[in-house]
Amino acid sequence: MSVGAPKIPVVVTEVVQVNDLIKRFRFQRRDGDAMPTFSGGAHVVVEMDDHGTRRMNPYSLMSAPSDTSGYEISVRRDDVGRGGSLYMHTHVQPGMEMVLSHPVNLFPLDNRAKKHLMIAGGIGITPFVAQMAQLQAMGGRFELHYSMRSPALGAYAQVLKAHYDDRVHLYYDEEKQFIDLKNLLKGQPLGTHLYVCGPKGMIAWVRATATEMGWPALSVHSEEFLAPPVGKAFEVQLAASGKTITVAPNQSLLEAMEANGVEAPYLCRGGACGQCETEVHRCDGHIDHNDHWLTDEQKASNTKIMPCVSRFAGAALVIDR
Ligand code: FES
Repeated sequence: MSVGAPKIPVVVTEVVQVNDLIKRFRFQRRDGDAMPTFSGGAHVVVEMDDHGTRRMNPYSLMSAPSDTSGYEISVRRDDVGRGGSLYMHTHVQPGMEMVLSHPVNLFPLDNRAKKHLMIAGGIGITPFVAQMAQLQAMGGRFELHYSMRSPALGAYAQVLKAHYDDRVHLYYDEEKQFIDLKNLLKGQPLGTHLYVCGPKGMIAWVRATATEMGWPALSVHSEEFLAPPVGKAFEVQLAASGKTITVAPNQSLLEAMEANGVEAPYLCRGGACGQCETEVHRCDGHIDHNDHWLTDEQKASNTKIMPCVSRFAGAALVIDR
């Protein structure tokens, strides 16, 4: 996907305050046509004009993949982030016109699985809502273990429990209820695939436990989009386009390139997909490699950078864009 890729012009048809932190948004096409079909786990990039700053944030689709009348996402408000989620919470109202990317799925269900075991933490529930609807329609076997801070902040927990009954297990941190992961993984039938989406620590814990217990790497799936961190402004020379640009404190390098008319590919805008990987020609300083795409060796050698999330401090950075 890139700046020139096709987009979907939409209108916001519904905004629902789900709890103190989360709002749900529904979008339909402005021309009244059906939305493109997608598969559970897909995300769209939502474009926002935040007081003159163009923001493009990825959000998992949570509506049923069979519902082409509209798309739904949920957004958790982040008061200390760069402003995208705050913009969604404070500016987006029914009737507003917006633009979405076409759906892309970096977290698909593996159709070879005999059973799908899902572990969700907090707002990480959203891709599973769509995946469970898909599996229900296909007659697929699944089980969800959903951990959240409290009943009041457990978005969709009771709805999912009511709908899927004993296939949904809820855990509230405040009530000291925790997933007994080792026992859970031990008791799974052969051919089960494991999926995890939630906070960084939860993903690392689930992946490490599965590895330790001998789960094949190909049977373990995770999704984590990182929000581009804020930091000090820095300058970058773009060798291919012959431009020198400044990346503002609350802007990513990818956003700064786009603002300067330099096309760059992307899918996730969150350090996960590898699409924006860019060669570094010269690095006199330190790159903050905030992605989880590059290997430790690649990060240490400073020969590549992921412009969607990584930042720089130092005398000179020259990259191949
Ligand atoms: S756009 Fe996916 S890693 Fe940068």
